[in-house]
Amino acid sequence: MHKHSTLGEFIISNQKQFKYTSGELSRLINSIRLAAKVVNHEVNKAGLVDILGDAGDTNVQGEDQQKLDVYANEIFMKKLTNRQIVCGIASEEEDDFVTISGNDKKNNNKYVVLIDPLDGSSNIDVNVSVGTIFSIYRRVTPVGTPVQKEDFLQEGKKQVAAGYIVYGTSTMLVYTTGHGVNGFTLNPAIGTFYLSHPDMKFPEDGQIYSINEGYYVHFPQGVKDYLKYCQEEEGDRPYKARYIGSLVSDFHRNMIKGGIYIYPSSSVGPQGKLRLLYECNPMAFLAEQAGGKATDGYVRILDIKPTELHQRVPFFCGSKNMVIDAEGFMAKYPEDANY
Ligand code: AHG
Ligand code: MN
Ligand code: MN
Repeated sequence: MHKHSTLGEFIISNQKQFKYTSGELSRLINSIRLAAKVVNHEVNKAGLVDILGDAGDTNVQGEDQQKLDVYANEIFMKKLTNRQIVCGIASEEEDDFVTISGNDKKNNNKYVVLIDPLDGSSNIDVNVSVGTIFSIYRRVTPVGTPVQKEDFLQEGKKQVAAGYIVYGTSTMLVYTTGHGVNGFTLNPAIGTFYLSHPDMKFPEDGQIYSINEGYYVHFPQGVKDYLKYCQEEEGDRPYKARYIGSLVSDFHRNMIKGGIYIYPSSSVGPQGKLRLLYECNPMAFLAEQAGGKATDGYVRILDIKPTELHQRVPFFCGSKNMVIDAEGFMAKYPEDANY
């Protein structure tokens, strides 16, 4: 498929690539595309209307929810529920997963979706890019019965599709179904996504490191050592530091330019901050499909067997050789692996 075809055309012409060709997954990605347009519209007018600020609730992780988080969550939940294409959804903004039953009270759909409806939410009121992250699995329990927790607690390597939307200087939808990564840019004038970044690849080496270095004192020694290495004058180092504070945007930049993103464990957050199911697994799937690498510093993210919906995990992700270098530093402190 050549550049400038629309996302709609791309989905149709690639349907045959899917292992199961009922068209269900295509319809599912289509509804994410529609939800993305609605959320994009809202994100872009956030500066104009009084939608900013906390909604007054805190989410299940005890963080303040901003109004746009709530809104984005509602839109994605609604679009995915209405069209009867999934049998269950788990969202970072919901305490538990939601079961979806069809009109006949049975659900014959095969897919579950896990979603971080608004990633980087602390950036909303300062006009900095935010995103949405999604992850799709086939259910493991029998079709026609209500979904169970085990349908959501699958290893990341079982994902059938994953992607993100970045609401940035331009809005892009980037996704994979296990056949490489493709990026589509929204033309807001006509509301159409066009294939602008076919077959995206992480450069094997990079010169950008992205980490919240403000928490340096809390980091494990392996991370401290790696940061010192990034900052040394030697070969192509020192590297550039770039940290937006929106995983989606930091990842997107690093995939294009070459870089590593790290959210490590720390003495205040032994499991790190990012959620395995809503953030790390989908990003790890994309990273690997783009020739990059994602680990928790020791273990491949996609191999981790989840035990709870809102589980957190340390995250090292990006250009292959950079992640390998970082792992080399972590390996010197095996005792930090299970913090
Ligand atoms: P969310 O807005 O969904 O809660 O995710 C924010 C995440 C991630 O996007 C970002 O990289 C990281 O939290 C920033 O955390 P710090 O402010 O601790 O650096
Ligand atoms: Mn997030
Ligand atoms: Mn979020």
